Amino acid sequence: MARLDPHSYNDDTQPETETLTWKARVDFRTRRLHAEATLALKEASAGPLDLDTRDLEIRSVVDAEGKPLPFLVSPPEPILGARLRVELRPGTKQLTVRYRTSPQASALQWLTPAQTAGGQYPYLFSQCQAIHARSVVPLQDTPRIRIRYKAELTVPKELKAVMAAGFTGREEQGVEAIERYEMPQPIPPYLLAFAVGRLAAKELGPRSRVWAEPEVLEAAAEEFEDVDAMLRAAEELFGAYDWERFDLLTMPPSFPYGGMENPRLTFLTPSLLAGDKSLVSVVAHELAHSWTGNLVTNASAEHFWLNEGFTVFAERRILEVLYGTEVATLHSALGRRALEDAVQHFKSHPQLTHLRTQLTGVDPDEAFSQVPYEKGYLFLRALEDAVGRSAFDVFLKRYIESHRFQALTTEQFTAFVDKHLPGALTKVDAEAYLGKPGIPQGAPVPRSARLEQMARMKGKVPTAGDVKDWTPAEWQLYIEGLKQGTSRDTFRMLDESFHLTKSHNSEVLVSWLSAALRAGWEPALGRTEAFLGEVGRMKYLKPLYGALAATPEGKVLARSLFNRYAERYHPIAQAAVESILNRA
Ligand code: BES
Ligand code: ZN
Repeated sequence: MARLDPHSYNDDTQPETETLTWKARVDFRTRRLHAEATLALKEASAGPLDLDTRDLEIRSVVDAEGKPLPFLVSPPEPILGARLRVELRPGTKQLTVRYRTSPQASALQWLTPAQTAGGQYPYLFSQCQAIHARSVVPLQDTPRIRIRYKAELTVPKELKAVMAAGFTGREEQGVEAIERYEMPQPIPPYLLAFAVGRLAAKELGPRSRVWAEPEVLEAAAEEFEDVDAMLRAAEELFGAYDWERFDLLTMPPSFPYGGMENPRLTFLTPSLLAGDKSLVSVVAHELAHSWTGNLVTNASAEHFWLNEGFTVFAERRILEVLYGTEVATLHSALGRRALEDAVQHFKSHPQLTHLRTQLTGVDPDEAFSQVPYEKGYLFLRALEDAVGRSAFDVFLKRYIESHRFQALTTEQFTAFVDKHLPGALTKVDAEAYLGKPGIPQGAPVPRSARLEQMARMKGKVPTAGDVKDWTPAEWQLYIEGLKQGTSRDTFRMLDESFHLTKSHNSEVLVSWLSAALRAGWEPALGRTEAFLGEVGRMKYLKPLYGALAATPEGKVLARSLFNRYAERYHPIAQAAVESILNRA
């Protein structure tokens, strides 16, 4: 027996699930899914089959003939959840689990009408990465395994259910509607995704439409109108797009991430709707995952950098094609800053700053940081610099082509590099990235003409002339560069001249508010208080609650804001803020 993934009860000597047939009735009143999951195995088997579950109430397990199969739910473990062990009779190839989910299911957020843009109807969405799918469906919740699925969601008739899958039909029955989906491409379970709400769609291109509540649909369609150009640029770089459609879903504000690469239907935070397309790099990122992550997948959270480092690399290549080298380089510079902060943040857990991590006993949500993203990016950039762009491009396409619809480990990756780019690993000192903490000495440093101009602004208050053509990314870089000791007075001058507390770009705003709060610039407080009630994106909650909690009075305020707003946040965002407030 071998448990190859520290975050799953999956045992690789047991048969793998080939397909899932999932039926769920969405009950907004009790905040539960009443569901049935049929797992068809790759081969007939006998003996124990271990599945992952979290907070599921299992009613029964039966075989293909409807005959009960014995099962046991073990006491839950804090990170893994509860193992469901089913005893298969010889020759069993299919089993059906009847169960219901808990109102506290960690993957689900149930929104009241007041938490939506329209204010009239409730909303439900899932966020399964990294190990939350098991709170929705009992399955082998490890990215080493891929499944195809069919799903049937029963929802109130006034609502629409969307899934990260192909739509096959809707049927209304009395006060309910049944929405059917089918996912023909095999996916790791963390990419199972759905949302239910008052949703409308607008076409963006031959392969894309955007979904949103009607109140934000127009704004979303304008913000994301260039998605088809992005898709074409990405195909040019990484090979044919394998998922048929690339649709977008603009989420309610409590969505805990900037974006989530659910296949065929990327989920996006509404905080991207800046009105000027200045935050569409998130769309480029989620699109890039269609190759790096969804097609070629990390074998477990210990190799997460293979998903995110590659995707940041791919995202910046897309940005370069669409908006030029300067823009891509600015993003790399922002990434470098974020990496330095992350390394600092983990100074008492240096192991979490390796790319190849050991996560037995560690919750992937706790280990999450910018390290796999930005150190992973630097590692790939170093390899690219070592062998030259054209050789690296050939390598990249070959890497994707030879691992399509598979998962791999860091060790399998380095073996592949050794074979196809001999000598490159030694040249860049791969071990410094993979197996050592911090930022490697020789790591590539972003350089460009505009970055040099920005460097000259360091420590100065810019004039209106200086900033006239600054993009939001440059503003953010400038703000991030304001040193710890920058005076309150400087913040006042900056705010009077450039109205940063009123910025409509959420990235600029959060950088600004975090820095201003730490400098004691009070006018930032009111905006922060309001903003924390408007968004649930963890990337924003963490620095803002963190900055507030840096002083004793601020900590009291942070607590009271969290008490007021907690129920607006997704369960995983609640946990993240809680851990910041407990630490502070
Ligand atoms: N897959 C991630 C989001 C994620 C990571 C969800 C880990 C759950 C666990 C997604 O692709 C992502 O990286 N989103 C970023 C945006 C990006 C531009 C770096 C985010 O949400 O900030
Ligand atoms: Zn990502």
